[in-house]
Parts: sequence; C-alpha cells; structure tokens
Amino acid sequence: MKKVNLVFGTVYGSAQHVAETLAPAIEKLGYEVAIKQPNELASFTPPEDELLIIICSTTGQGDLPDDIFPWFNLLKSNAPYLPKLNYSIIGLGDSCYETFCGAARQFDALFQELGANTVTDMFEIDASETMSPEDDALNWISVWHSQVEH
Ligand SMILES: Cc1cc2nc3c(=O)[nH]c(=O)nc-3n(C[C@H](O)[C@H](O)[C@H](O)COP(=O)(O)O)c2cc1C
Repeated sequence: MKKVNLVFGTVYGSAQHVAETLAPAIEKLGYEVAIKQPNELASFTPPEDELLIIICSTTGQGDLPDDIFPWFNLLKSNAPYLPKLNYSIIGLGDSCYETFCGAARQFDALFQELGANTVTDMFEIDASETMSPEDDALNWISVWHSQVEH
C-alpha cells in the first residue's frame, strides 16, 4: 500500500485541521497515511517512494509558521537530492496580503531546488473566500488522486 506523508505548518490550527480532515479521506482511497507532528520533523527526510503533501499557512509578511520553520531550514541546509519524490502543496493564506500564500510558495521553490516533482499545481485556499478550508481541501483530493494515478 502506497504511503502518503502529511506535513503541516500552522499558527492558529487551520492547516493542522485540514491535515486531520484529509487523512481519513486519503486512507479511504487506499493509501496508508501518516501525519507528521512538528516534533518528528527534525529526523524526517521525505522518502522518495512515498507521497508527500505539505499543508502550510502563512504568517507575518509571507513567513513560515514557527512549527514548520526549522524543518524548512533543515532541508534548505542539508539539501537532499530528491528527484523521485512526488509532492503537492496546499497553501492556506489570505488574499488581503500581498504575500498571499508566501510560505507555501517558499516550500514549492525549495522542493523544486531539491529536484522533486510536483504532482499538482499548488492549491491555494484563501481565508477571504472560505470559512472552511478543510472542505476545499477535501474537494481538491480528487484532483490530487487523479494526478497521482495518472
Ligand atoms: C498576523 C497574520 C499574518 C498573516 N500573514 C499572511 C501573509 O503574509 N500571507 C497570506 O497569504 N496570509 C497571511 N495570513 C493569513 C493566514 O495565513 C490565514 O488566515 C490562514 O488560514 C491561517 O491558517 P492557520 O490557522 O493554519 O495558521 C496572516 C494571518 C495573520 C493573523
């Protein structure tokens, strides 16, 4: 059974809630799912034979949440080459900010630098447009699934 790792970065809990909502939906599609907690990330290099979904909100002016910031820096400095890794990114943000989904964009750029392949376009969820990011993410999973199985 193919494994999917979900990594979240959150300030107020929405991105974590999205991860926890997606996990059983992805399991229903026949995958094994692991939600990585922030304290597990220091030793986590995404395995290339597993799928990765990063769900990350943005804080400050385009900045990464504190819980995921150390992992970003670790990957940036270790720079593992991950050409077989398939990843997707869900960005939570607010289009009121010029730096809309800035943290998710930073992750996308980082994984491109690491040589990884994006399975889908980045999925952006705008807090100015929706009160329930988990519902948007659930709808998006069918897009993700069709791309993964492509
Ligand atoms: C202080 C603060 C700064 C923010 N900065 C940004 C930003 O630069 N870009 C953006 O797209 N959203 C920004 N947001 C919006 C959040 O990313 C958005 O509300 C998100 O849904 C929060 O998710 P979370 O609960 O997982 O942290 C900011 C929100 C706050 C409260």
